[in-house]
Amino acid sequence: MAVGVVAVAPMTLVVVGVAAVLLVCGRMVYRGRDRFIPNLYSRDISVYEAAYRTFIADSLTSLRDRKIPGHTLLWEASRLPAPSRDTADELLLDLGVWIGWSTRLTAEASGRRVYGFDTFTGLVEDWQIDDHVVINSGTFSLAEPLARQLMRDTGVALEDGVPSALGRDVQFVKGSTYDTLAPFLAARPDVPIRLFHMDLDTYESCLHALETCKDRFVEGSILVFDEYLVTNGEMRAFYEFQEKYGLEWRYRAWGLEAMEMNVRMVRSPVKRLWYYTDWISRYWLRGDGRFVWQFVDKRFWRFWLGAPAGDIAFMLGAAGQRKSVSLEITGLGRLGE
Ligand SMILES: C[S@@+](CC[C@H](N)C(=O)[O-])C[C@H]1O[C@@H](n2cnc3c(N)ncnc32)[C@H](O)[C@@H]1O
Repeated sequence: MAVGVVAVAPMTLVVVGVAAVLLVCGRMVYRGRDRFIPNLYSRDISVYEAAYRTFIADSLTSLRDRKIPGHTLLWEASRLPAPSRDTADELLLDLGVWIGWSTRLTAEASGRRVYGFDTFTGLVEDWQIDDHVVINSGTFSLAEPLARQLMRDTGVALEDGVPSALGRDVQFVKGSTYDTLAPFLAARPDVPIRLFHMDLDTYESCLHALETCKDRFVEGSILVFDEYLVTNGEMRAFYEFQEKYGLEWRYRAWGLEAMEMNVRMVRSPVKRLWYYTDWISRYWLRGDGRFVWQFVDKRFWRFWLGAPAGDIAFMLGAAGQRKSVSLEITGLGRLGE
């Protein structure tokens, strides 16, 4: 037995050593660097027109200096200036709230009222994630078993068809943002948006919300996009929006998406541990994290051969997906005319 163990250890070392040398050599000759986004290594961005490719490349260069360990949304909410008489009516909008935790925790972190918008019956359009998968419209309805179970385990009830506030300063607005957002703003004339959290997922809903809110953005407005590193979704919508109006802005942070917050709020520590174990193992074994080890998948090679070492560490080090990005508006361009 002992002899067997002694023989296996050097063999393992040799195999690991050879794999490491091959990896280093492979990385030196690999030509695909910077063609794949460090979210799913899915779509080859050379399918896009030159201007958008440049935008993506510049974005990643800037974001790599702005990595944060936690949730981008809470990082931003906790940095908003304390409410004062002058800023009391500024709007904090959470667009796409599901069972409501992103809204409640943003209110808690900022000490301000947050308005959460959702159909509560799920996505209003199909969501094509790069060239990876399509998430069908209707997904994320509160009638789904996962939503019901998480609501139960985090103490959320439905009151008049919307999730309960649970003592936080939140107000939920039920319905498609195509119908609710404009009347909501019209009822609050001239009030600026301080925090705009986009988690409606699809390109169409994101662009519509940006256009509807455009006159309420001011210098200093913070925009957080939960799914920014999906190049045909929120990133594309923001790219077109800022181009159209000549907006001036700068990136602030790149961190965890909001979804993982829901697990943090599970009340029973044993259940919480179970959720974490279940979600994390599902993600790496059967979910989007598969590309890290499934060598038959082309994304495996894009990741291990092409991703900068810092990205590899950042993506592997998260108990959730790192694709959420925040930015600050610094000049209104043609929006101010
Ligand atoms: C990913 S979930 C939001 C998750 C939530 N922010 C969290 O952290 O738990 C996306 C939500 O957006 C909602 N949604 C998508 N498009 C919408 C639209 N145009 N109007 C209203 N709600 C929409 C869906 O119903 C869904 O609940």
